[in-house]
Amino acid sequence: MLWSLNAWALRSLPRNLLGLLGLLLRISAALPDQVCTLQMTLRDFRPILSWEYLNPEFEPTHYTLSYTIMSKIKSMKMVENCVHITKPFCDLTDEWQDLGETYIPNVVGSRGNRTLRDCMGDIMLITNMSLEPPKFEIHDFLDHIKVIIHFPLHVPSIIKELLTNYHPLVIEEQLGTMVKKHNPKIHENKVGNFSYVIDKLIPNMNYCISVYFEHSKSSLPPTIQCSLLHEPGMTTFEMAGFYFKLGNT
Ligand SMILES: *[C@@H]1O[C@H](CO)[C@@H](O)[C@H](O)[C@H]1NC(C)=O
Ligand SMILES: *[C@@H]1O[C@H](CO)[C@@H](O)[C@H](O)[C@H]1NC(C)=O
Ligand SMILES: *[C@@H]1O[C@H](CO)[C@@H](O)[C@H](O)[C@H]1NC(C)=O
Repeated sequence: MLWSLNAWALRSLPRNLLGLLGLLLRISAALPDQVCTLQMTLRDFRPILSWEYLNPEFEPTHYTLSYTIMSKIKSMKMVENCVHITKPFCDLTDEWQDLGETYIPNVVGSRGNRTLRDCMGDIMLITNMSLEPPKFEIHDFLDHIKVIIHFPLHVPSIIKELLTNYHPLVIEEQLGTMVKKHNPKIHENKVGNFSYVIDKLIPNMNYCISVYFEHSKSSLPPTIQCSLLHEPGMTTFEMAGFYFKLGNT
């Protein structure tokens, strides 16, 4: 009785809602023996989804990624640039543009004419993405250090929003056990490499600098660059016009 009632209820549901239900059931069914692990990473300021298949006997050679959006009941959408690819990751910069949305990716791995069980998960950019620290270089002078942070010319607007509102950029200055944090603002419209000067430093001391995004779990620890301050040699790396200066000068 109950079953037939449910069957009736299911039949009367819209077709795509049924699809979503099926999807959710498959997700929960896939939980006990996971097919793969999914990871979302901000790498070079681009949201990258990567995956790793866990079955050692079947290593796919090709992958196809599609996804659906939790709040919108829609069928799976294939990611054009990630159909039958050989690398286990996909750049979703142009696809996933809502920080608070839950995306449900589905990776299909294949090898020859064999296809492995789908690999699925749920990802919200704001909570699931780990942010790799930006690359930077330091140029030391007698009493100040110029930190040049590598930023692309174009940072997707949701990434700017993420960095501005949730994960501000931090430049950490360390002298012995003393740690000082600097928070340069990321410029609204113009990005690209920029420099930040840490001044009023003590000559002949060893300063260490690291750059990272606040409150972010990251698979990559920030690199640390150290320098013993002295008069600079003959090379200065002033590239006027390329960099614009932020913060205290
Ligand atoms: C899959 O490929 C293998 C080896 O190439 C072949 O023996 C097999 O018949 C193929 N199976 C199907 C269903 O095409
Ligand atoms: C994303 O975060 C949620 C909540 O913490 C978690 O349940 C889910 O497994 C995460 N997704 C991935 C792919 O790690
Ligand atoms: C930033 O600097 C690095 C290293 O000097 C360089 O390779 C890169 O092209 C620069 N990026 C921009 C956007 O100018």
